[in-house]
Amino acid sequence: MFGKIIGTGSYIPEHFITNEDLTNYIDTSDEWITDRTGVKKRHIMQDETTADMAAEAAKKAVERAGINVDEIDMIIVSSVSSNVILPNTACYVQDKIGAVNAFCFDINTACTGFIMAYNTAQSYIDIGLVQTALIIGAEGLSKIVDWSDRGTCILFGDGAGAAIVRKDDKAVFDTVMYADGSMGAALTCNNGFAYRATLIDKTENKSIYQNEENKQISKCSQENDWNQIQNTYVQMNGQEIFRFAVKQVPECIQELMKKIQINKDEIDMFVLHQANSRILQGIAKRLKVPLEKIPMNVSEYGNTSSACIPILLDELFQEGKLKEGDKIIMSGFGAGVTLAATYLEV
Ligand code: ACO
Repeated sequence: MFGKIIGTGSYIPEHFITNEDLTNYIDTSDEWITDRTGVKKRHIMQDETTADMAAEAAKKAVERAGINVDEIDMIIVSSVSSNVILPNTACYVQDKIGAVNAFCFDINTACTGFIMAYNTAQSYIDIGLVQTALIIGAEGLSKIVDWSDRGTCILFGDGAGAAIVRKDDKAVFDTVMYADGSMGAALTCNNGFAYRATLIDKTENKSIYQNEENKQISKCSQENDWNQIQNTYVQMNGQEIFRFAVKQVPECIQELMKKIQINKDEIDMFVLHQANSRILQGIAKRLKVPLEKIPMNVSEYGNTSSACIPILLDELFQEGKLKEGDKIIMSGFGAGVTLAATYLEV
């Protein structure tokens, strides 16, 4: 037996940066960004952390689901941009909302992350370990993009979305999932912490971070490590990602529809990762589905990676655009590369 989504919530930072604002810092224009991506503005965290945004989205989902926090058996947070490595963000959320009976873990499958969290929750529900799961996508991407790189910084934003999934004998679930690590170099972000230990000044034979007089990065004797440190911002081969998404997302969705023997015309809505509007238009064209069935909010938030789908789901529920019985396919795709399409009925 699987679970149904019984409540959603989201958190969007108040502060935002428009395309016009960006022209003060980088050589770009509102016209270029709008034409190529559909993004008009992106919300940027200020005092809040990624974990704070996750907790705020979770509180709203719990409230709308009308459940008590101690009914939550499991919390999964998907993020590539948490403000901490330890402890995991899910444990932070557990503490903030008081979900004392939940076990908690984080996952990282980039923009596919919310779907993987959903699929994982469904698997735990199906084997009977969990009745009620809280799943969250939360991203503070503004901290990991290079704001001087006009090829990437224009795309991304911050935010969080959450859903409560509860065991229900009417719930249906099926999925198709893919990963292709050989394409990993198309979208990367190295972890700065990982290079600290290797930053050894060979003449002194000690870490530059341990040597107060030698804090200048330029003194680092390992050129390669310095290059890696620079890569602690998002690096992307935009065209490779574009081609991957426009070709493989429709194929994955078609495979799922074939698996569950459903026609595209029977699907009420395709709730897709909001990478950018041109990718979504390309997917619609290949699938031969009208754009009205592919809701978009990328103009308002940009690409918030694993937070895109739950933020969009929350908007659709709040606006009354999803009703009981609606047949939905959700699909996430991104770094790894990873890709998944999942079927549900509201
Ligand atoms: N403003 C103005 N000009 C720009 C900008 C900018 N912000 N960024 C790049 N350009 C310039 C380039 O320098 C280049 O100039 P040149 O011809 O003089 O060399 C020109 O515009 C074309 O650059 P391309 O990189 O070829 O532009 P492209 O048409 O491929 O569009 C884009 C770039 C929007 C990133 C596109 O490749 C794309 O949509 N890729 C998908 C990436 C994506 O959505 N990633 C999100 C993360 S992954 C995920 O969520 C699945």
